[in-house]
Amino acid sequence: MAPRPVYFDCDTGIDDALALVYLMASPEISLAGIGTVSGNIDAKRAALNTLDLLDMGGRNDVPVAVGAMDPLTHSFGGGVPHIHGHNGVGDVELPHTDRRPVAESAADMLVRLAHEHPGELDVIAIGPLTNLAVALKQDPSIAELVHEVIIMGGAALVPGNLSEVGEANIYNDPEAAQVVMDAPWQVVLVPLDVTLENAFEESDREALAASDSLLNQALADILNLYFDFYVEEYGRRMCALHDPLAAAIAVGQITAIRAPKVPVVVDATHGPGRGQTICDLRKQRGGPRDVEGAHVRVVLDTDQPLAPVLLERLLNYHS
Ligand code: RIB
Ligand code: CA
Repeated sequence: MAPRPVYFDCDTGIDDALALVYLMASPEISLAGIGTVSGNIDAKRAALNTLDLLDMGGRNDVPVAVGAMDPLTHSFGGGVPHIHGHNGVGDVELPHTDRRPVAESAADMLVRLAHEHPGELDVIAIGPLTNLAVALKQDPSIAELVHEVIIMGGAALVPGNLSEVGEANIYNDPEAAQVVMDAPWQVVLVPLDVTLENAFEESDREALAASDSLLNQALADILNLYFDFYVEEYGRRMCALHDPLAAAIAVGQITAIRAPKVPVVVDATHGPGRGQTICDLRKQRGGPRDVEGAHVRVVLDTDQPLAPVLLERLLNYHS
């Protein structure tokens, strides 16, 4: 089968970096374009991080567009240096490419690619959903043109991470998430319910460090800060594989096995529920069943652990 065209929207970011290299290593898809958004770090820095990683992986053919610096209705809060570092990649100095982002915005790139690949373009979104919302407002027809939107975001039956109920990608721009969830396109939501159940251990990180690939060695270095952050969550140095899980589901290496299509509402109020993804999972007791008219598939379980699949593909990637 020909590789499927993908628009990748990210806030590179440590787990974004893992997801990016995984996609570079995945022959099932073709990276048609990458857009960045402010989240873990500002969109401009995320674009430079993405360009550096693409260069290290020999993929200077992939265009990178800078997207929204601010969420739809408020100013960017400055990122999370204690999680992703002051530079977005764990405060590791990557070799810097002299390649620069393209002139078009991320939203313009998404709209263009949707029209260039009618019915075929998959969108993989692993940061706040601002660019997707801007693109939908600019050209609502992309909802009919895009094949599927795979989103790392939300929390269905588990607590949030940036607030009691809000997962970071949704919480950072709930108004954008509301626009994206309400649009009539096919969405696969990969929430904390499954991403926190998939982790890299120190042995996985050490395997990357021992690789003869400078890119894998850089990923091992980048992961250090993330591992330190997750000691509080897991009780030892390891890390959740949020973005790589969404990427692996999009590629098809990981299969969602309990993933009903249900109504999903985003709380965009300014109360304690802000940023919550309210998934209507009633009447699911007898086993996952799709709700008539729903278009958001919420992934609640997957067929196998991601870590060995991800590690194998990273170690075998030769730029
Ligand atoms: O909540 C996890 C998500 O927020 C991931 O995409 C991570 O990179 C951050 O953007
Ligand atoms: Ca991310």
